[in-house]
Amino acid sequence: MAGKYKELAEVLSQECIAPDIYSMWLQTDKIAEKAVPGQFISVYSNDGSRLLPRPISLCEIDKDKKALRIVYRVAGKGTAEFAQYYDKGDKIEILGPLGNGFPLERAEGKKVFLIGGGIGIPPMVELSRQLPGEKTVIAGYRDDKLFLKEELEQNAAFYAATEDGSVGTKGNVLDAIRENKLAADVIYACGPTPMLRALKAYAQEQDIECWISMEERMACGIGACLACVCQSKEVDDHSHVHNKRVCKDGPVFLATEVEL
Ligand code: FES
Repeated sequence: MAGKYKELAEVLSQECIAPDIYSMWLQTDKIAEKAVPGQFISVYSNDGSRLLPRPISLCEIDKDKKALRIVYRVAGKGTAEFAQYYDKGDKIEILGPLGNGFPLERAEGKKVFLIGGGIGIPPMVELSRQLPGEKTVIAGYRDDKLFLKEELEQNAAFYAATEDGSVGTKGNVLDAIRENKLAADVIYACGPTPMLRALKAYAQEQDIECWISMEERMACGIGACLACVCQSKEVDDHSHVHNKRVCKDGPVFLATEVEL
């Protein structure tokens, strides 16, 4: 596979940064060097009974140290195993970098929103570092456990929306945009489908370019399960249907190109 590597990466650190949210730094050979913001890796389970890997987005890419940071939510057996069993010095099999990543050049000289919801927040960290333009992060959390806030504040203005209203705006990311009278020329977003759907509608209404990462729709991450298929506007060259696999053709799409 061109540009993708299967590696046995060493776990440099692993910590719980919010309830059910874990952060892991991995020492890679080539993957960190090649990776761009918005891409992901597939993490294989050590338990042979679960053959499909878990796709996990890249939160930070340290090219000098050839290290990657992934931040993931424990949801199901595979990720619970990553959280419980891996510690400093352990080896973990990964494949990457996978997916297309965010188009950084679209932000040149523009006012940009980086919008993350829940476990869609981690990819915004590396994106906030590498994206040009005047950056504002709007992050949607459940409660006052604002994971990755410090990292995001280093590169952008930061606003939070919380479901329970404990910090920032009570409500969702669009409520925070409206309450703080924020404006942008381009949107980069990652999060649950209802959030992406609302942002797509908002962007169309405001006539703003909007790039979305649909990584929450992925299952195997390697094109094997077809659980991630979404409807697109253009017809696929090979199959002549309006389908796209999020893990192969995405996870980043122009919002107007896909049905949500
Ligand atoms: Fe399995 Fe895309 S996630 S085919």
